Amino acid sequence: MSNYHIKHLEEYYQVYRKSVREPENFWEEIAEEHFMWQKKWDNVLSWDFSKPEVKWFEGAQLNITENCIDRHLATRGEKTAILFEPNDPSETAEHITYNQLHERVNRFANVLKSQGIKKGDRVCIYLPMIPELAISVLACARIGAIHSVVFAGFSATALSTRINDSDCKIVITSDGSYRGAKTIDLKGIVDEALESCDGVKTVLVAKRINSDIHMKSGRDKWLQPLLENASAACKAEVMNAEDPLFILYTSGSTGKPKGMVHSTAGYMVHTAYTFKNVFQYRENDVFWCTADIGWITGHSYIVYGPLANGATTVMFEGVPSYPDFGRFWQIIEKHKVNQFYTAPTAIRALAKQGVELVENHDLSSLKVLGSVGEPINEEAWHWYNDNIGKKKSPIVDTWWQTETGGIMITPIPFVTPTKPTYATLPFIGIQPALMDENGKELKGNQVDGRLCIKFPWPSMARTIWGNHQRYKDTYFSAYENKYFTGDGALRDEVGYYRITGRVDDVIIVSGHNLGTAPIEDAINEHPAVIESAIVGFPHDVKGSALYGYVTLKDTGESRDQNNLRKEINQIITEHIGPIAKLDKIQFTSGLPKTRSGKIMRRILRKIAHKDTGNLGDTSTLLNPEVVQDIMDNVL
Ligand code: PRX
Repeated sequence: MSNYHIKHLEEYYQVYRKSVREPENFWEEIAEEHFMWQKKWDNVLSWDFSKPEVKWFEGAQLNITENCIDRHLATRGEKTAILFEPNDPSETAEHITYNQLHERVNRFANVLKSQGIKKGDRVCIYLPMIPELAISVLACARIGAIHSVVFAGFSATALSTRINDSDCKIVITSDGSYRGAKTIDLKGIVDEALESCDGVKTVLVAKRINSDIHMKSGRDKWLQPLLENASAACKAEVMNAEDPLFILYTSGSTGKPKGMVHSTAGYMVHTAYTFKNVFQYRENDVFWCTADIGWITGHSYIVYGPLANGATTVMFEGVPSYPDFGRFWQIIEKHKVNQFYTAPTAIRALAKQGVELVENHDLSSLKVLGSVGEPINEEAWHWYNDNIGKKKSPIVDTWWQTETGGIMITPIPFVTPTKPTYATLPFIGIQPALMDENGKELKGNQVDGRLCIKFPWPSMARTIWGNHQRYKDTYFSAYENKYFTGDGALRDEVGYYRITGRVDDVIIVSGHNLGTAPIEDAINEHPAVIESAIVGFPHDVKGSALYGYVTLKDTGESRDQNNLRKEINQIITEHIGPIAKLDKIQFTSGLPKTRSGKIMRRILRKIAHKDTGNLGDTSTLLNPEVVQDIMDNVL
């Protein structure tokens, strides 16, 4: 029997050791016992990081939708697969059973076929968080088309760049979307994007907001009538293990976005196995990941991971602030959510609102809390632990990336003792390495370096669409025979990992390596501070000095700013040491963020360097207005 479900720490260590000593045997057992294959593999793994080339389960044939849907029908046909919670709380939630999901995916797959889409074609999906998004993703997988989901908050320019990069033939969108009290004209954005996309011949339009939109004749088609007329039976395409399942774009530090290509079998095995363990999912639990399916978190832990385990997965259309900041807590109570997975940026925003909004709701169904996307600062961790988890639900701080496909470093709840701001231990099968600046691996504990992974794992991206050389240069060239994550990390005295932030954000001050995340963590502890971002700027004695952008809770308050600056530096001194003190502290009305909530440090760095002639690509900014404000008040 394979160890599909880890239940205690000793078992974790034992299974981990096995996964490292005999990776092929280990993954073979997991794959063999827990998935449905049309044909088994000839070879579990072949790899060469110098090319780089990685193949898992070569020779196997499967269809991921048979694993996510068909095989559950006999025992879970009437169980809710997708629980759709609409933007408007007065609109009824939709429970889509596995039987219904099967039918809807098959119909959608047949519609795609009727539009000439076949195995290997790229399909761009630009939809809000409505059931059609998950269903269209699965419909592509059913027929072997490669989906490229573009987050429906991206602009027309960003959308057209992504459509053209992977030569998508078709776009699936909706008339519009709801976002809190607002509606967004998605179809208008698609129309604008397609002015520069000659390859797109068809646009399928789902109706969501019933707006009066222009349908271009010959190109645009309403989805609903096509679905109604399509057959509810669609045989799953036979896919090879290494056939691409999807492309998902992630921004690079330079150049155009990178279309990360994920393959079928390895991705399925790893996302399913991590989902089961990292969330300790049990039959009849209700799992909610608040990400958008436009990001990797949504791909892996709203769609594929949960459905491969026959789980009930919540899809929320709205935003945490609508109709008020208690919405997340109201949804947890309403659907008796057992596992809740969100991002630190959301936790900080909600923590700012005070606890009354939490206390109005019964959160007793919660068993496990998750965090992903950025380092979680200590204050947010404690707020989450105290107020949401009531100190009973372990927080899994999960470190991973678009490129890794699934969770890599994480506690296993009720198994791994947690430690605030630590992602703790590598997941089964993951072999991290910390490297020093000379390219040598740092052995032992209490070390601090650059995070690499030295052995393949099943869900790693296989290439960048259309640019394998860039894949090699970005991830496999910094350190020989290792995948370089771009992150810094430390390993503490017991072997726990703490991600210290992107190494491109590491600032060397007077010869000392300083990670921005721990400094920001310290600043955020100040009661007047909402959040902060640190960048380096040139300094004639220290080489680089630190520039802090700090957003205050109460901007209207006429506090003595110099006094506040002293207090902030005092906190930093207490937490890290005087070396980490900031030379400049600018109080800001907000920080420039991407639509996924990441602070755009590149822009902040340029402003601190007084190099604002060309701020680079700002198309993914959520709040461009704060940039001007920051530039006007630069120190
Ligand atoms: O810097 C790390 C940070 O997010 C990066 C990956 O971003 P993305 O590809 O957008 O994927 C986000 C969702 C998986 C990483 O290189 N990151 C992600 N999770 C954590 C994190 N940093 C610290 N702690 C985490 N738990």
